[in-house]
Order: sequence, then structure tokens, then C-alpha cells
Amino acid sequence: MMVSASSCVSLLLVVALASAAAAQLSPTFYDRSCPRALATIKSAVNAAVAQEARMGASLLRLHFHDCFVQASVHHCFLLLNSIRGFSFNVIANIKAQVEAICKQTVSCADILAVAARDSVVSLGGPSWTVLLGRRDSATAASLTTVSNSLLPPSSSLSQLISGYGNLGLNPTDMVALSGAHTIGQAHCSSYRAHIYSDTNINQAFATSLKASCPAGSGGATVLAPLDTTTPTRFDNAYFSNLLNQKGLLHSDQQLFNGGSTDSTVRNFASSPAAFSSAFATAMVKMGNIRPLTGTQGQIRTTCSAANS
Ligand code: HEM
Repeated sequence: MMVSASSCVSLLLVVALASAAAAQLSPTFYDRSCPRALATIKSAVNAAVAQEARMGASLLRLHFHDCFVQASVHHCFLLLNSIRGFSFNVIANIKAQVEAICKQTVSCADILAVAARDSVVSLGGPSWTVLLGRRDSATAASLTTVSNSLLPPSSSLSQLISGYGNLGLNPTDMVALSGAHTIGQAHCSSYRAHIYSDTNINQAFATSLKASCPAGSGGATVLAPLDTTTPTRFDNAYFSNLLNQKGLLHSDQQLFNGGSTDSTVRNFASSPAAFSSAFATAMVKMGNIRPLTGTQGQIRTTCSAANS
């Protein structure tokens, strides 16, 4: 196939622009424009997590969804049924505090990235330097686009590997990021198929979950911890659970099911330090997925809607 010189040049330009956008993120982005931004976010997150530990999980999940969906529709603040409405209130509250000290300066996308890191730290997990300077989408995300960008809990290992791979995250990043399921909870509808239909699950574990999550339908408000061992502690117990076939979601147990990621799960189960370091690395990579920067998008004044 012949490729013209001009199309090569435009391709190079696109690649150069894409890497320039990521390169614009910087840890010192608000040092001059809003020096108190990070401390304000941290104290608000600490207060929210002290009131309810699960809030740390909900805030971490919000940033994950923002990163994955943004990859197709740019920075959006999502309205998903699966995300607890209360965590939106926490973000709205943090945004209001940040707006009060620096008007229309700090993006919602950056607030989510910092709040995710601070949540992990407040529950005993690793810290990392958050790169800043993301901007927010000028358009709302449609529920369909959001759902299509996220992998369902029924995903197989190869679907997980290729879904993350499409966003520049390798299988080690994927396994490390899944370790976020060391905190937080899932609805019965998310794990029903795994406890009733899969065979790669510890039988006593499945039986105890079946007591509150009925087969077929119902149990809409029933929740179970993603990590039964230490549900509100950000540690590596999630991986030891997988070794014992106690992953709550089908997609969790796929990471340790005789496939290519078994060795990574074993490594993270035996070494908290290996998990912490891989998680921090992967969170920075996830936060760098095609951000809006420079003059793209906008700085929203309210996180739940684009500026009018
Ligand atoms: C692609 C693989 C993933 C799948 C299939 C997945 C799926 C799920 C599902 C089904 C739930 C429970 C939702 C519900 O029933 O309400 C959940 C919760 C959660 N997920 Fe994931 N997830 C994935 C990756 C991630 C990543 C990469 C992170 C963060 C880095 C993350 C963080 C969380 C957290 C913290 C919760 C608990 C939220 C809460 O308690 O409010 N997940 N996930």
C-alpha cells in the first residue's frame, strides 16, 4: 500500500500533538494559580472518609470512570446509576470550597484525580504525585457512551487485557488497578452470576453470599464487600482472596484462573510493596489517558454540568 508523504506528516503531527497534551500535565500546575487547592481537597476528603470509610472507595471509582470514559468522549462528570449519588455531593462540596478560594481555576477532572489519591492514602494505601492540568468536557456524557466505555463484571481475562490495552495500560497495570477492589462494595446484581453459575469460587464463600443475594432477581439493595477480609483497608488482601477463589466479581476471579496474569496476582499477594508500587504507577498512567489540556474543553464551575 502506498502512503503519501503528506499523510505521514499529518500522522506524525497527530502523534506529536497527542504526546504534547499528556506532557502538559504537571505536578506544579496550580502552584501559582491556586496554591491552596491540594490542601483544601485533602482535608475535605479526609473529613468525608472519616465520616464514612466507603466514601473513599466511591471517590476512587469516580476517577477511574472519568479516566476510562474520557478516553472516548473526553472529560465528563458522569451520572451513572452504579455510582452512589452521595459521592457527587462530596465532589460538589469540594468543588464549592475550591471555587471559593480560586474561581474557575481548578478542573473537576483534577479534583477527582487528587481526591482518588487522597482517598487511597486515607484508607492506608500508597501515595503518588498526581499530575495536574486536565480540563473538563464542554459536553455532557450520554449514558450509552458511558456504559459502552466501561467493561462489565462478566468480562473474560482476554476482554480485560484488550480493553485496558486499548487505553495503553498493560496487563500488570490492569491487575494492579483491579487491586482497587480491596475497598468498597458491590450490588448483588453485579456478583449474582458469579456466585450462582461459576465453578471457580470457594463453595463456603458462595453459600454465605447466596444467603442475602437471591438467585434470579430481587436483592436490589443488597451489598457485599469486594474484599471480605479487610473491606475498609487499602491493602493487598484482595489478591490473597483471589488465591483462595474468593473474588467477588467474575472479572476479579478471571485474574487468577489459570491464565497469564496468575503470576502477577501471586506476586502482589505475597508482596505489599510490589502491589503498592505497581498501583501508584498504574494510577498515574490511568490519569494520563488522553486528557484535555491547554485551551481544550473548559473549567466547569459545577462538576455535574457543562458551563452554560
Ligand atoms: C475493568 C475492570 C473493572 C470492572 C469490571 C469493575 C467492576 C466493578 C463493579 C461491577 C463494581 C460494583 C458496582 C456495584 O455493584 O455497585 C465495582 C466497584 C468498585 N470499583 Fe471496579 N471495576 C473494574 C476496575 C476498577 C478500577 C480500575 C478501579 C479503580 C482504580 C475500580 C474501583 C472500584 C471501587 C473502589 C469500587 C467500590 C465503589 C463503592 O463502594 O462505592 N474498579 N467495580
